[in-house]
Amino acid sequence: MIPESAETLAKVEVLADLEEVVHHLMERHEAKRILWFPSELLAPAPDTDPDHHIRELRDRADGISLPARVALGLNLLTEEGLPHFHRLLATYLGGDTFWSKWTNLWTAEEDRHGAVLHDYMHDTRILDNPVLERMQFEYLKAGFEPTWDKDPYRVFVYTSLQERATQVSHANTGKFASQYEPTIGTVLANVAKEEARHYTFYRSVFKAVIGEWLGDDDPQALLGGPPIDDLHRGDGLTGRRLFK
Ligand SMILES: [Fe+2]
Ligand SMILES: [Fe+2]
Repeated sequence: MIPESAETLAKVEVLADLEEVVHHLMERHEAKRILWFPSELLAPAPDTDPDHHIRELRDRADGISLPARVALGLNLLTEEGLPHFHRLLATYLGGDTFWSKWTNLWTAEEDRHGAVLHDYMHDTRILDNPVLERMQFEYLKAGFEPTWDKDPYRVFVYTSLQERATQVSHANTGKFASQYEPTIGTVLANVAKEEARHYTFYRSVFKAVIGEWLGDDDPQALLGGPPIDDLHRGDGLTGRRLFK
């Protein structure tokens, strides 16, 4: 088994080689993106009374069930963990690179997810906002130190899965809560769509990482092979292209 540091360096080298791939995926992502902002999704119709809009929203939201409120609160707290997630990515994707540009773009996009849910909670008052904000404070203060955070490849496995998980969670919560209040359905449909695009980005990146690590032009060649951990921990592994 090679030392952890050499293994990590080899992985970081692979990431450096993939910078142009990231550049391309980032351009593709931005070309398809519809950039919305929280105040647009929650705005009253043009030329209508904003106070009346808020009163109507609050009346509708009164009917949101307790399970739907809990799901919304959980989804909000998950999104508000963004500083932790940004740090995990910035650790390995820093410097003046497209990796770093992607991390910053992703962070800017994700920041709107927590913001739109926070603003919705503030406008509708469906949860006790000071309690919710204290929970958010404690969550951030507690830190987030996963055992895999020293491994750049595992970070991508995590990001891919968390994007898919949040996509499903936001989409299902939106459908559930919009039975009572339709605005939240529109809000969460937009958030879920963006999570889906993030998932596509990270899945494509990890596919490229696997292909680069194996030195194979066709990353699909890995399918059916041993898990990536077994590959890079194999006897005699001295470089990233052992399995070429
Ligand atoms: Fe998100
Ligand atoms: Fe996302």
